[in-house]
Amino acid sequence: MSTASTTRTPAPVGDRWLDLTDPDVYRAGVPHATFQRLRDEDPVAWTEERDGSGFWSITRYADIVALNRDFRTFTSRHGIRLEEMDEEEAEARRTMMEMDPPEHTRLRRLVQGGFTRRTVQSYEHAIRVLAQAVLEEALPQGRFDLVTDVARQLPMRMLGRLLGAPEEDYGYLVDRGDAMIGNTDPEFTDHVVDQTDTEGFRLMPFRSPAGIELFEYAQKLADDRRANPRDDVVTKMLAPTMDGEPLTDLEFKNLFTLMVAAGNDTTRYSMVGGIVALLDHPDQLALLQERPDLVPTAVEEMLRWTSVTMHFRRTAAKDVQVHDHTIRAGDKVVLWWISGDFDERQFPDPYRFDITRDPNEHLAFGRGGPHRCLGEWLARVEIRVLLEELLPQLDRLRVAGPAERLRSNFISGIKHLPVEVAAG
Ligand code: HEM
Repeated sequence: MSTASTTRTPAPVGDRWLDLTDPDVYRAGVPHATFQRLRDEDPVAWTEERDGSGFWSITRYADIVALNRDFRTFTSRHGIRLEEMDEEEAEARRTMMEMDPPEHTRLRRLVQGGFTRRTVQSYEHAIRVLAQAVLEEALPQGRFDLVTDVARQLPMRMLGRLLGAPEEDYGYLVDRGDAMIGNTDPEFTDHVVDQTDTEGFRLMPFRSPAGIELFEYAQKLADDRRANPRDDVVTKMLAPTMDGEPLTDLEFKNLFTLMVAAGNDTTRYSMVGGIVALLDHPDQLALLQERPDLVPTAVEEMLRWTSVTMHFRRTAAKDVQVHDHTIRAGDKVVLWWISGDFDERQFPDPYRFDITRDPNEHLAFGRGGPHRCLGEWLARVEIRVLLEELLPQLDRLRVAGPAERLRSNFISGIKHLPVEVAAG
């Protein structure tokens, strides 16, 4: 079987001293050797940043979960990515991700009903029909891009339905979502945050002009649903909250934009990374084809292996001791989910891709804290259904060109992967 070597998760050898902040580093793959060094030698590590600030990296599984649980000490209010924001920016861009309980709880309660395990199960049939349609279009082409032609298609169509956005807008929404999340990748935006002047967009989500467009879109959708309520998540979001206070327009726009940003590329890159892992491990693929009952544990291993959202950041609200270090009030603290998911203290033989791994309490959706991924069940069903539909043909798929990875220190993913279907 021919697979491009760049698609493999590297064993933890190689450069142990890579700059974790540099988006270019991740174009070559996740810097596992650096994370391994940090876990072993410096689990609470301080990194200076070019602008004079710095951050603590938390890289061991148990520490990540413990700090994430302690939201009073490690607040989300000052942002959840490495980027520095002043108070005005943080306020304008605040979503529930950048809130702590109880403020966070109010917004979370508004939307969570649409995303419970049970509710999402009721979408399974619709997801399967969509997956079948996407595959029926791609596979007969013989050669296609697994990311843009398959994995990118499903999540927005599903999320769009759920939110109640018109179908003809899905392409536009996923494109704008990519421009925001891919804000350090020149393929997705002309306003690359670390390369161009984005000062004019500092109050927009992800410091991106795409945020302005999504805000305008959300405002129109809100106006429409207020006039014509329907049975969809947007209408529910606009209803008065538990405390009787309706969302402000800014809260709604930020929440809508968060859904579009959080619900698309994460699922897409998990699907692709998981499928590539199976292609890279033919023994595991053969086992799965023989035993499709293993699909649920395979999906969890795909999630652990890809850990697409590599980190979330918190900020210390007071001085606190973690291992031998005193973290000062105001310091940035970065929880590296991706590192925790390869911590040998938690996962035996973590660099082995094992579809039977059980237990597999991975950190791909966070763990322990109030912000655990809202869309985890939706993502799981989408990944599982796509895998089930593709599985009978998967051993005929060959990687037919180099994988291109996203330029980002936040999201890890393959954004293009040419594949071929071998004659069967
Ligand atoms: C495989 C796909 C996905 C991955 C890897 C992922 C990952 C994550 C992670 C790591 C967090 C933060 C957890 C924490 O801080 O403890 C998160 C939060 C969140 N995710 Fe996902 N996510 C995925 C899919 C989705 C989908 C499909 C949606 C759709 C709505 C979504 C919406 C959200 C939201 C709204 C939050 C913030 C929740 C809060 O602040 O309470 N995610 N996700």
